[in-house]
Amino acid sequence: MKPFLKWAGSKYKIIDRITQSLPAGNRLIEPFVGSGAVFLNTDYPEYLVADTNADLINLYSCIKTQGLDFIEDAKQLFVKENNEQASFYNLRTEFNQTQDIERKSAIFIYLNRHCFNGLCRYNSTGGFNVPFGRYTNPTFPEVEIINFWHKSQSVEFKLANFVDTIEQAIPGDVVYCDPPYAPLDQTSNFTSYTKDEFNLDSQTELAEVALKLMDKGICVIISNHDTEFTRSIYSSAKLNYFDVQRFISSKASNRTKAPELLAIFSRE
Ligand SMILES: C[S@@+](CC[C@H](N)C(=O)[O-])C[C@H]1O[C@@H](n2cnc3c(N)ncnc32)[C@H](O)[C@@H]1O
Repeated sequence: MKPFLKWAGSKYKIIDRITQSLPAGNRLIEPFVGSGAVFLNTDYPEYLVADTNADLINLYSCIKTQGLDFIEDAKQLFVKENNEQASFYNLRTEFNQTQDIERKSAIFIYLNRHCFNGLCRYNSTGGFNVPFGRYTNPTFPEVEIINFWHKSQSVEFKLANFVDTIEQAIPGDVVYCDPPYAPLDQTSNFTSYTKDEFNLDSQTELAEVALKLMDKGICVIISNHDTEFTRSIYSSAKLNYFDVQRFISSKASNRTKAPELLAIFSRE
C-alpha cells in the first residue's frame, strides 16, 4: 500500500526489507510514523502510531473520523487555478493562520503535492515555509487516501514524543522505530542543532529505551544509517546491513548508495 504523502526518509522503497524483519504480535507501535509506509504494509490486529508533527497527526485523525467527506473536501483543492504561484502562497498563508483543523488538514495534503520536493519545513515561529514546487499537474492521491482511511480504523493516532509512545508498550507488542537519520558524516557540525531537533543524545536515548524493552521481552526494531556511531549505540542488538540507492539530483552521476541498518532488539 503506497503512502499518500511524500515524506523525507520514507521507507516505502525498502518496505520488504523492513516488514520481513518484523515478528508477529498483538499490536504494532510506530513512534516515528511519518508517511506510514511501514504500518500500512503490515497486518497486525491493532496499531499505535505517533509522531511529533501535529499537522500530520491531525490529518490522520481527520481521515480516520471524517472519511469520505473529508477526502472529498481535500480533493476540491486540486484544481488548475490552485496550481499557480499566487494561489499556492494564499493557501500556504491560510494554512498558517487557520484554527480549523479540517481545513488545515486538507491544505496540508495540497501543500505536500504542490510545494518544492514535497518537503515539510517550518520557520522558527512554526509557520510552514516551503516554496511553490512548479509541478505540471499535481494529482490528488485519492486511491491511496481511501486505502489509508480503511486501514486507519484499527489505528490509534497520537501526537507524542517517542519516549511517551514507547512507554505504552507491553509484552505482545512489536515496536518499529524510524527516527530521523543519524548523520553519515561524523564530522558534521552538530552544535548548530537546536534543542528540539533529534540529535545524537536522542539517538542514544532511543537505543537505551529499546534495550530496556528487550529486557521486558518486547521486540524493538530500529532503522538508521549504518555508521560507527549507530553500530556503537546498537551494540546489544542483532544488526542487519544493506545499501539504499539515494538520488541526490536527477543526474545519474549523482546517484549514491547509503549504508543502512536494522537494529533488532529481541531475546528471541
Ligand atoms: C524518518 S521519518 C519516518 C518515516 C516513516 N518511516 C515513513 O516511511 O514515512 C522520522 C519521523 O520522526 C518524526 N520525529 C522527529 N522527532 C521526533 C520525536 N522526538 N518523537 C517522535 N517523532 C519524531 C518526524 O516528524 C518524522 O515524521
